[in-house]
Amino acid sequence: MAESWVNSAQRIGADLHLELSAAGSRRAALGQALREAVQDGRLAPGTRLPPYRSLAADLGLARNTVAEAYAELVAEGWLTARQGSGTRVAPRAVRQKSSPPTSAAAPMAPAAPVHDLRQGRPDAASFPRAAWLAAARRSLNTAPNEAFGPGDPQGRIELRRALADYLARARGVRTAPERIVVCSGVAHALRLLFGGGVLRGPLAVEAYGLPFHRSVLAAAAVRTVPLEVDELGARVAESAGVRNVLLTPTHQFPTGVPLHRERRAAVVDRARARDGLIVEDDYDGEFRYDREPVGAVQGLDPERVVYLGSVSKSLSPAVRLGWMVLPEHLVPAVLAVKGEREAWASVLDQLTLAEFIASGHYDRHVRRMRQHYRRRRDRLVAALAEHAPQIAPIGIAAGLHAVLRLPPGTEPGTLEAAARQGLALDGLAAFRHPDAAPLAADGLVVGYAAAPEHGYGAALEALCRVLLEPQEASGGSTSASPEKVKAASPPPSSA
Ligand SMILES: Cc1ncc(COP(=O)(O)O)c(C=O)c1O
Repeated sequence: MAESWVNSAQRIGADLHLELSAAGSRRAALGQALREAVQDGRLAPGTRLPPYRSLAADLGLARNTVAEAYAELVAEGWLTARQGSGTRVAPRAVRQKSSPPTSAAAPMAPAAPVHDLRQGRPDAASFPRAAWLAAARRSLNTAPNEAFGPGDPQGRIELRRALADYLARARGVRTAPERIVVCSGVAHALRLLFGGGVLRGPLAVEAYGLPFHRSVLAAAAVRTVPLEVDELGARVAESAGVRNVLLTPTHQFPTGVPLHRERRAAVVDRARARDGLIVEDDYDGEFRYDREPVGAVQGLDPERVVYLGSVSKSLSPAVRLGWMVLPEHLVPAVLAVKGEREAWASVLDQLTLAEFIASGHYDRHVRRMRQHYRRRRDRLVAALAEHAPQIAPIGIAAGLHAVLRLPPGTEPGTLEAAARQGLALDGLAAFRHPDAAPLAADGLVVGYAAAPEHGYGAALEALCRVLLEPQEASGGSTSASPEKVKAASPPPSSA
């Protein structure tokens, strides 16, 4: 089989490889190769094809051969040809690939969840596409040429300035652009700090937290020591002998309580007394609904706190941009770990975010989303009050999720019932540190941001149906045997 390949990227705007099999005429082979490229989506509807002459030159064909092949595909409806706009792939030319026949004996794959109540996801439909695009355009138009060279590992100065201003204003962070290092998110910051050896274990962490972060720390060989969580947040006086602590003080993840005022002061005292540091994960600090905003602990002592944040909740986890606000003495060590060039956070995205913040669009977006999520939260609370009044939601004053307290031992059965209803959500047990005692009650962690607007009502109905199903208490690992319970109970009221 003889092949001929062409890469016509510059002319059609997409990287296309055409393979001409030797069978049949050259015209028929080209026609077939184009059909296949359209059919399998390599040539998307609307894509402009290269002019006859250049494709003919690339493939070593006569110009007429290409013209005839195009004409044939136009006649068949694969392509359209219009004076002035060239030859393009027809708008609906892509055919669905037929799925392979399933054998009757083949095992059924579990049905994909119908309702998405998973925590940790913002509303993807609300991404501010037009404003982001406009910020990208403005920042590209005005960026100096040096912006397109290798990136500064500390991050673009435009972004660090915008962040210093925003974080001081909105989160009470005391900083300056020189103390900020841009990264790709909180998980990346933990990798840099602990994987890079800037900070070392052991590290005190909240007894309930993000398993992914625990695995990042475990991969860096950091031993984590759990601090029990109660209605005032993490018990920060525990774990004597451990100098450094990782906390989510604004909105404990996942139980939802803010760290009590006295404990905020106590954790700073702890760090000073032990010559340690607080790593503050401010993952959803912008979203507080009913009460006074809770400022960052960092503002209490900037030399004792490594403050971490990202746009993963406020904009989208797809953007992959975050920041570390560092005590002055840690800046050189973090920059040494990052290396000579920026390797994680796209400079162009940094410029876009800088412009997005500086132009006021970030504030506007956060305000809009705060209202949107508050309405979602209110609908959840109202649905529970009406249909499942025995269930008390907790941690609802902030963030994008709530915890629904369940009778001890009923979490596994409730999760199974949820799966049967096509409901994707998590149980509290999934977040427990392996060395921590379970909370006295079981719980569901319900994310109210991710479901599409048109499906949110149905998701809440499915949730209430699940909560109404009677569940037998299992002796499973999620329920707490009395002697194992150290923390008296999860936080009792909406925090
Ligand atoms: C507790 C917690 N911290 C931080 C983050 C954000 O992580 P990243 O910035 O790596 O996307 C999340 C996101 O889901 C989270 O739940």
